[in-house]
Amino acid sequence: MKRTVLLNPGPVNVTERVRQALLKPDLCHREKEFSDLMQSIRSKLVHAFGIQNEFDAVLTTGSGTAALEMAVCSCLSEGQTLLVIRNGVYGDRIAAMAEAYGFNIQCIDSPWGEPPVLADIEQALKQNPKIEVVAVVHHETTTGLLNPVHEIGQLVRKYNKRFLVDSVSGLAGDELDFNRAGVDLCAGTANKCIQGLPGVSFVLVRQTELTRLEKIPERSHYFNLHKNHQAQEKGDTLFTPAVQTHYALDTALDELLEETVNSRIKRYSQAAAMLRQGFQEMGLEFIVSKEYWSNTLTALKLPEGVTYTALHDRLKDKGFVIYAGQKKLSESIFRIANMGDITTEEFQRLLDTLKNCLSASTPS
Ligand SMILES: Cc1ncc(COP(=O)(O)O)c(C=O)c1O
Repeated sequence: MKRTVLLNPGPVNVTERVRQALLKPDLCHREKEFSDLMQSIRSKLVHAFGIQNEFDAVLTTGSGTAALEMAVCSCLSEGQTLLVIRNGVYGDRIAAMAEAYGFNIQCIDSPWGEPPVLADIEQALKQNPKIEVVAVVHHETTTGLLNPVHEIGQLVRKYNKRFLVDSVSGLAGDELDFNRAGVDLCAGTANKCIQGLPGVSFVLVRQTELTRLEKIPERSHYFNLHKNHQAQEKGDTLFTPAVQTHYALDTALDELLEETVNSRIKRYSQAAAMLRQGFQEMGLEFIVSKEYWSNTLTALKLPEGVTYTALHDRLKDKGFVIYAGQKKLSESIFRIANMGDITTEEFQRLLDTLKNCLSASTPS
């Protein structure tokens, strides 16, 4: 039987080796074997991204939002302001999360599908001395836009602020040079470009941040980054982790280390180029200008007379799952991600099937 090819931006198709890792023996998380597994994951994460000398990984059970919430709720000192750069659903989510914790926030907004104006960010940093942390989404999955994290990070450093990056859909898919971008806290997840399974996510935290984080009041019992870090450094976990998903992540990280982050980025970039050429040949319209495209997701306008549901259902019948637009884009676009273990042959089959579906549903 042919498998379903997932063209949604996570959870992604994984290799058989990662799936089989779920079947390892039952394990108590208070035993040495779990501690070894957790330390293996933490170490492989920082080695995969070449940041083992400056960063520690802190794991949490939960989806990418859990890691993001751990970073956001733990990063801001009392009375300080979080500057949030927003141009999509996930930037909005950072702001909503910060508001839920009662933080002072300031936002720099640009239209969805357009990058922020760097001069606006610099002006905010100049004018508001209360800004302590700047937060941005690396790859805004809403539209497939890559935000200029390295340029923003350099401004953040210039004004001596801390930099929080949501790279839940970016890590291992698009380049992120942690040191050039001056990243201090980065949220990531197992089940997107890292090619693990859902249920575990992580924050990569710069070691020099830890003394600052320790002084920040505990606002969440579950998600306090510093406390989770302290426990994990001792080989312990505060709460019961999703053990089996950790097995799968450990194996996914073996695969990532074997492939290397740079080669995975290249593989995704080649897949995106192949798909985009096909989309162009079909006359589909992109919603983001080429210079801002990520390597892993393409947002396309629904052609005249084609509804998302009809297109989705037709493709699903043929074994492909595409993804809808969010919020104000839900009626007008569809999204195709190319994350995960998908072959060139499967991408070609997708293009052929999409072409057939579109010519059957658009008036000639
Ligand atoms: C940029 C970004 N941040 C956060 C999230 C939230 O991740 P999750 O759905 O795993 O909680 C996503 C999910 O797609 C995302 O793309």
